[in-house]
Amino acid sequence: MGLLEGKLGIVFGVANKRSIAWAIAQAWHREGAKLAFTYQGERLKDNVEELAGTFGADTLILPCDVTSDEQVRNVFGTVKESFGRLDLLLHSVAFAPREALEGDFLNTSREAFRIAHDVSAYSLIGLAREAAPLMDQGGSIVAMSYYGAEKVIPHYNVMGVAKASLEASTRYLAYSLGKRKIRVNCISAGPMNTLAARGIAGFGDMLKHYEAHSPLGRNVEPSELGHTGAFLASDGAAAITGQVLYVDCGYQIMGM
Ligand SMILES: NC(=O)c1ccc[n+]([C@@H]2O[C@H](COP(=O)([O-])OP(=O)(O)OC[C@H]3O[C@@H](n4cnc5c(N)ncnc54)[C@H](O)[C@@H]3O)[C@@H](O)[C@H]2O)c1
Repeated sequence: MGLLEGKLGIVFGVANKRSIAWAIAQAWHREGAKLAFTYQGERLKDNVEELAGTFGADTLILPCDVTSDEQVRNVFGTVKESFGRLDLLLHSVAFAPREALEGDFLNTSREAFRIAHDVSAYSLIGLAREAAPLMDQGGSIVAMSYYGAEKVIPHYNVMGVAKASLEASTRYLAYSLGKRKIRVNCISAGPMNTLAARGIAGFGDMLKHYEAHSPLGRNVEPSELGHTGAFLASDGAAAITGQVLYVDCGYQIMGM
């Protein structure tokens, strides 16, 4: 029997087959969870339908720009009608204007700061608030973070500050939702070659740097993020909440 047999989940953040959200969704599905998906806009609808459709023609696929409270409410309204309840939520969503990911951090504009934090950090709170009433038997919320929350990574800039906010929000949400047996954790992934990552200046050098300096001497595989996502969603992680779990081939422990 799969680790997540009978669980109902929703996945935010599939853009294409390279998306971390897709790697984790595949693992959740393999372990027996029934999943709903959202896509950011019409541009990504076909991609998500093609991928999520492989889990069954009746897979629930809904539009959701996380900066719209109305779209978020509609998503959870439809999930309530279709599923009745919910166990799992994956937040794998981030965005910052491209110019904020290449220049000097000192030049971060108020607008770039606002957008990065709205899309990449506040959205976790907005989604958790709507999901919580449906998680009536407890639940697991998993969000994706990166080491730039903790240390300076050149070019990561305002996204690092937004990830710090996401990680702090994870802790406050874990406290807020703990009595309802809803756990909230982050996976801090090593660099993966995805659409979002290609927006970061010098991303190719990051991959090489991790290969050269991480204890395991390589980069992370998408399937490995899937396994960790399945673990955090499972009862094996029943006493784990408010944590940031590094899945980065050990890079985070290195001082030199
Ligand atoms: N790729 C990496 O190296 C890496 C490392 C650590 C953490 N992460 C994090 O993993 C998560 C997923 O990114 P990815 O690398 O899989 O890239 P991706 O481009 O495949 O996924 C990013 C997703 O965010 C969605 N998104 C952006 N703005 C949105 C909005 N307003 N409303 C709804 N959705 C929106 C996009 O549609 C896309 O599906 C992000 O939080 C990212 O910061 C990525």
